[in-house]
Amino acid sequence: MYGLIGCGNIGRAVAKGLIFNGHPINVLVRDNYLDCIQSKLGQNAKVFSVLGDFLTTCDIVLVAIRTSQLLAFLNENAHVLKKKELVLLQAGNIADIVSQSDCPSDLQYCRAIANINVEAGLGDVVILRTPNKGLENKVLDLFGKIGEVRLVDAPDDLHRLSMVTGCYPAVIGRFLQELIDGALKLGLDSNDALALSLKVFQNTAKTIELGRVEPKAHWRTACSKGGKLEKAMNELDDQFNKDFNFPNWLDKLSKSMVKK
Ligand SMILES: NC(=O)c1ccc[n+]([C@@H]2O[C@H](COP(=O)([O-])OP(=O)(O)OC[C@H]3O[C@@H](n4cnc5c(N)ncnc54)[C@H](OP(=O)(O)O)[C@@H]3O)[C@@H](O)[C@H]2O)c1
Repeated sequence: MYGLIGCGNIGRAVAKGLIFNGHPINVLVRDNYLDCIQSKLGQNAKVFSVLGDFLTTCDIVLVAIRTSQLLAFLNENAHVLKKKELVLLQAGNIADIVSQSDCPSDLQYCRAIANINVEAGLGDVVILRTPNKGLENKVLDLFGKIGEVRLVDAPDDLHRLSMVTGCYPAVIGRFLQELIDGALKLGLDSNDALALSLKVFQNTAKTIELGRVEPKAHWRTACSKGGKLEKAMNELDDQFNKDFNFPNWLDKLSKSMVKK
């Protein structure tokens, strides 16, 4: 049986994705979230707030707490966790944190970084190869139920790939919201605004995926030369570079995640 510790953004998405795909899971949450999480996850989840009780129900434990909480968590619970196989769902230099902790050096753990789309069974999960092939295969199988899985050899590859698969959904969600808000301002009702924005987004991605046109060319060809759309797009471009320099922002974020 799998257990999951921490039911925030990623933990909840993983739990929901597994449950909706018919895979039961036990979850450990803070005491004050017990009822709320139980009602959100339903009958296929058993929710605990006492670590000792929770650990008796599972052999493999997925850890979805924040990276900043990991060292204290490992130190506090090293004596009980050493008997379990752990799957650490954190970004960051986790090997350093584990080696600084009071856990034994032969602690069995594997790293997997999930993205938020696992909630719908459409996630991208990046898994770092581990010498424990038994655990690796179980983790591959588990996350294969809630999305596409990529196996990588080096921590830097884990960070690079998970930066794209893990952070970009936030950027896309933000961008889509702008499209929806724009459609609402034009007078569409909220159902049409959502449906139409999603369709345009998906079909544009499909056209590019089919190799019919490059992303930048698609943007340019949608505008008539000298027309209102071209002017608006140029203004948007200037504003975007001034207020929110996306390439710089991504570069900064990537540098903080990948060792140079
Ligand atoms: N958000 C994303 O889209 C995303 C994508 C890829 C990877 N990640 C990685 O996933 C990890 C978790 O991120 P997140 O966004 O899910 O964080 P989050 O929303 O803050 O969730 C962490 C949860 O774990 C709980 N928790 C911490 N220690 C616990 C304990 N001992 N027992 C029970 N519950 C405990 C926290 O409760 P308290 O708040 O009360 O401490 C919180 O509810 C991070 O390391 C992040 O790098 C996140």
